[in-house]
Amino acid sequence: MLAEEFQEAQHVVVLTGAGVSAESGIPTFRGSTDSYWSQFDPMMLASVEGFRENPKLVWEWYAMRREKVLAAQPNPAHFALARLEGLVPRFTLITQNVDDLHERAGSQNPLHLHGSILVTRCSAEGRALDGADLLDDTVPPRCRRCGAYARPGVVWFGEMLPRDVWDAAERAVASADMLLIVGTSAVVHPAASLAASLPKIAPLVVVNPEETEHSRAADYFIQAPAGAALPALVEAAFGK
Ligand code: OAD
Repeated sequence: MLAEEFQEAQHVVVLTGAGVSAESGIPTFRGSTDSYWSQFDPMMLASVEGFRENPKLVWEWYAMRREKVLAAQPNPAHFALARLEGLVPRFTLITQNVDDLHERAGSQNPLHLHGSILVTRCSAEGRALDGADLLDDTVPPRCRRCGAYARPGVVWFGEMLPRDVWDAAERAVASADMLLIVGTSAVVHPAASLAASLPKIAPLVVVNPEETEHSRAADYFIQAPAGAALPALVEAAFGK
């Protein structure tokens, strides 16, 4: 029984994707007709080449997404994961999401594999910039120190994931005795391949309204939206 597996687990690891924030009104990348990559070319908006070609377009697209994140609120799925963290002996949350809804729901230190949309970096030096570090007479603004354009602090296609975050995520999955994967299409690597590090005896649990490569390999597939499924799961294992 899944509820019992949760009660007995010593280290629960959770990997989330865009689907966990969908019910907060943040579009996913794939799937529904309003998903980002069904409308736009990801190489134009989410690659170094795309940024070089049209920095203003890319900057403005991320600025629009940042506004959406700031206006959004965590949903019951984020809150259920924050609650779960307090109920199991050890818990690691890994997310592909660049929003901060897990943190705002109360999760401690989620590992952001793809960075944060709320951080701005120098496109030449990589360092984080705040308002005082920026010359804002252009779009995008520029780094006051070196004059290079500022860019969003996210990982683009073709870029390396932050090494320390990736290493921590891999270590966590390798020592997990349960992996819960929520709201990811499982097509973007290396995030999708993290599941391969799960010890064979540890159950894989997938929450997604759609089938994915992960759901086909799962011990438990809960085919439902996360906002309904996760609170129910936590309640079944630990009560209200
Ligand atoms: P995707 O947009 O690829 O997939 C979203 C998944 O969420 C799909 O499998 C949906 O079926 C599922 N979903 C939709 N609504 C849901 C709900 N209410 N509850 C649970 N699941 C739901 O998002 P990711 O897999 O996160 O990278 O995408 C991975 C990466 O690709 C992103 O981090 C981003 C993107 O390009 C970069 O920008 C580098």
